[in-house]
Amino acid sequence: MSSSSPVVDEANRIAALFDYPAAEVNRGVKEFIREMNEGLEKEGATLSQIPSYVTAVPNGTEKGIYLAVDLGGTNFRVCSVHLHGDSTFSISQSKVAIPRELMVTAHAKELFAFLALQIERFLQTHMADHFTSHVEKRQTGHVTEPYAEEQIFDLGFTFSFPVNQHGINKGTLIRWTKGFDIAEVVGQDVCGLLQEAIDARSLPVRVAALVNDTVGTLMARSYCSPGSTRALIGAIFGTGTNGAYVEKLARVTKMAKIDSERESDTSYDKSTGEMVINVEWGSFDNSLTVLPNTPYDVDLDEHSVNPGIQMFEKRVSGMFLGEILRRVLLAMSRDEGVKLFGGESGANGNGIPADSGLYVRWGIDTSFLSTVKADHSEDLGATKAQIKRELDIDNPSLDDCRAVKVLVHAIGKRAARLSAVALGAVVISTGRLNEGDGIADVGVDGSVVEHYPGFEDYLRAAFREIPEIGEEGEKRIRIGVAKDGSGVGAALGALVARETRGR
Ligand code: BGC
Repeated sequence: MSSSSPVVDEANRIAALFDYPAAEVNRGVKEFIREMNEGLEKEGATLSQIPSYVTAVPNGTEKGIYLAVDLGGTNFRVCSVHLHGDSTFSISQSKVAIPRELMVTAHAKELFAFLALQIERFLQTHMADHFTSHVEKRQTGHVTEPYAEEQIFDLGFTFSFPVNQHGINKGTLIRWTKGFDIAEVVGQDVCGLLQEAIDARSLPVRVAALVNDTVGTLMARSYCSPGSTRALIGAIFGTGTNGAYVEKLARVTKMAKIDSERESDTSYDKSTGEMVINVEWGSFDNSLTVLPNTPYDVDLDEHSVNPGIQMFEKRVSGMFLGEILRRVLLAMSRDEGVKLFGGESGANGNGIPADSGLYVRWGIDTSFLSTVKADHSEDLGATKAQIKRELDIDNPSLDDCRAVKVLVHAIGKRAARLSAVALGAVVISTGRLNEGDGIADVGVDGSVVEHYPGFEDYLRAAFREIPEIGEEGEKRIRIGVAKDGSGVGAALGALVARETRGR
C-alpha cells in the first residue's frame, strides 16, 4: 500500500521481507521435529538435545535454602533461594553487569575469578552470620579442609550455554553463544572451573548442580504451579533463546551409548522413565534449509563472532532483534532515495550525529523495540523520545517514526512466529495434547516474551495455523511466565543433587 511517503513506502517494502506465512511455519515445524529426532538418536546433531540428568520435575513440596548463580546473558546474578515447600519461595539476590572485556578474554580464569568474587561479596552481605563465623574459623585455623558438611552451601549453577552434561554437576562447554568468546573454556568442565575459583577464595561453597536456564525455568514452573498438570516445556526468549522439555527416556536412544561411554559418572534415576532434555534450539537449521533469510540477517551473521552458528537465535532473541533493526535503519539512512532521519549528510540541519548509536554494533537494545511497539499515540511521541535517547537523533519526522514502527512490528512478529515453530514442534512431538489431561504447560522467561507487546498473541495465531494443533489445540497450550526461573531452578537442581548424594 502506497503511503505517499518514500520513507514509509520503503519501510513497508522491507517489512514484507520479514513476512513468515503459515506455509513456512508448517515447513519449519516439520524440519524442527526431524532435527529433534535426529538429536535424540545421535550426538553432534544440529539440535543437540542434551540430556540434563534431571529425571523428574518438582511438585512444589521441595524445601531448603540454596545458593544459586546465573551466568548466561548480560548480567551475573547471585541469589539465595528459600524453597518453602508449598509452591512458594523467597529470594534475595544481587546482580552485576558482566564487563564486556571478560566475555571475550583469552583467559578463562579472569571470568571465573570475577564470578567467585561476586559470590564472596554476596555471602558477606546476605549471609553475614554464617560467612563471618566461617571466616573466623578460617583465620584461627579451626577449620580443616574439607569443611564440615553442614557448613557448606550447596550451589546451583545456571550456565546458559550449550554444555555436554556428564552428570548433575559436570559438563563441558560445547560452544559459546550470545557474544561470549573465550576459546580456552570450550571442552572444559565449567563446574570444575567455577569450583576452582571458589576454592581459591576459600569459600564454603560446593557447586552441586549445573543447570541450563531453560531446565531451571521448567523446574521453577513445575514447583510454582501446584495441581495435576505438570510443566512440559521451559523456554527462554531473552538475550538468547532455547527450550527444555520432558522427554520419554525410551525415546532418547543415544542414551545407551552415552551411558556405556561414561559409565563411572552417570548415575541417575531411571525409574521415572523420563528425562528433561535441553534442546539448544538456538542452532535450529544452521544450514538455512527452512529459515527465512533477509539481506539484513545475512549482514548481521557475517559480522557476528560466530558466523553460521545459532541461526535461529539470530532471528528470534533479544540480543539480535535490535541489531537487525539497526542494520535496516542504517541502510535506509544511507539510501539516497529514502534518507531516513534526514540521511547521513544531516539534511535540514538535523540528521544523524557521527556518534549516534545507529553506527554502533548492538547500539539498539531490544527494549527499544518493546517501547516503539507499545506506542499507539498519534504523534508517536514515545517512539520519537526513544530515537532521541538511543540514537541521539533530534526531532525525527513523523514519517521516520512511522517507518521505524512498521519495521519494529515486522521484526518482532517474525520472531514470535519463529518461536511458535519451536514450541509447536516440541508440543507436537511429545504428543502431550493427546494424552493425560491434554494440556501442554509451558513456563517462559526472558525480556522478549515478557516485554514485547503482543508476543504471545502472535505465538498463538501461529499455533492455530499448524494443523496438528489447530484452533482447539491452541487453547490447550498453557503459557505462563516463570519468574526468577533460573534462580529457583538452580536451587531445585542443587536440591536434586543433594538427594542423589544422599541415596
Ligand atoms: C544458549 C542456551 C540458553 C539460551 C537462553 C542460548 O544462547 O545456547 O543454552 O538456554 O541462550 O539463555
